[in-house]
Amino acid sequence: AFDVKIASSGEVVRVAADQTVVQALGAHGVEVLTSCEQGVCGTCITRVLEGECDHRDLYFTDEEKARHDQFTPCCSRAKSAVLVLDL
Ligand code: FES
Repeated sequence: AFDVKIASSGEVVRVAADQTVVQALGAHGVEVLTSCEQGVCGTCITRVLEGECDHRDLYFTDEEKARHDQFTPCCSRAKSAVLVLDL
């Protein structure tokens, strides 16, 4: 598990191993638009302000992934303990 922090509110949301980031946020009333939920379409792209992403999408290039400044919360996760999201 890891945490995501919502930059605008400071709220910290735990993402359990069997949950996606989108599901964890939704359970806290923060809706992220999704479509494919498989890392293909890019609909859910969210900016990342701090932390290291565990990218599991097929959308970004390797260069984009290496910047760790955006990710697809429908399927991607975190390598760091916390990801700060621009939400
Ligand atoms: Fe399609 Fe996340 S919903 S990439």
